[in-house]
Amino acid sequence: MSKEFIEQCFLWNIFIFNILQMKLMYYGECVCLRALELEDLDDILKHWNNLELRQYLSSQTPMSRQAERQWLERATTLDPWRDGGMTLAIEDKKTKEFLGTVSLFTISSQHKAAEFGIAIHNPENLSKGYGTDATRVMLWIAFHILGLNSVFLRTLDSNKRAQKAYEKAGFKNAGVTRQGAFVKGTFHDAIIMDILKEEFLKVYPPGTEVGKP
Ligand SMILES: CC(C)(COP(=O)(O)OP(=O)(O)OC[C@H]1O[C@@H](n2cnc3c(N)ncnc32)[C@H](O)[C@@H]1OP(=O)(O)O)[C@@H](O)C(=O)NCCC(=O)NCCS
Repeated sequence: MSKEFIEQCFLWNIFIFNILQMKLMYYGECVCLRALELEDLDDILKHWNNLELRQYLSSQTPMSRQAERQWLERATTLDPWRDGGMTLAIEDKKTKEFLGTVSLFTISSQHKAAEFGIAIHNPENLSKGYGTDATRVMLWIAFHILGLNSVFLRTLDSNKRAQKAYEKAGFKNAGVTRQGAFVKGTFHDAIIMDILKEEFLKVYPPGTEVGKP
């Protein structure tokens, strides 16, 4: 065997190794969305039982490690069409820090519609642009990969930060469910926001991306 042949084999091995290691991720300007993994459990538990975070989400009861693991085991195996849902991890593009999760649920193949949900976990990471960026990337996936036609969300009337982030990502106000949420002893109006594929594609037509690796 010639030296050149051995060198070529070596280079091909590195190339194939890199391909096999490549993970499918979608990039924004400062985040990337990747598959949620069981190894994310510790990062999730760091902030999940903080009421400051959970007051804006659907449940405010304490979550045990075991319950969170069970949720994660299911979330990591969801198939958007079979299970009608998909949850991805949000990661800082540069530092790879786990930032939170973003989801599409009640995905309807008939109506080409889904509901959107997101949480940036560490309070220190709020209002730094991560949420808007992750929302744009998830909408890109919803419209360009899943082929949905509309995405809607519900948020508390008082959650002005979330509404600002959603507006920046392209959501519009679509209505209110009066007293639709019960948080810390009080009923709150829940704001409904939505976005259509045609609106998103005006900003991100086919061939464009939210961000690069
Ligand atoms: C909602 C959430 C995803 C938004 O992500 P984020 O990274 O914090 O938001 P962004 O930095 O992208 O955008 C927030 C915007 O709201 C603004 N903002 C912050 N607090 C605000 C307030 N009280 N009133 C109005 N605007 C506010 C910020 O200045 C920023 O706008 P700017 O970029 O023009 O300055 C994140 O805050 C979060 O996960 N919060 C906890 C859980 C939650 O609320 N989930 C959503 C449930 S519907």
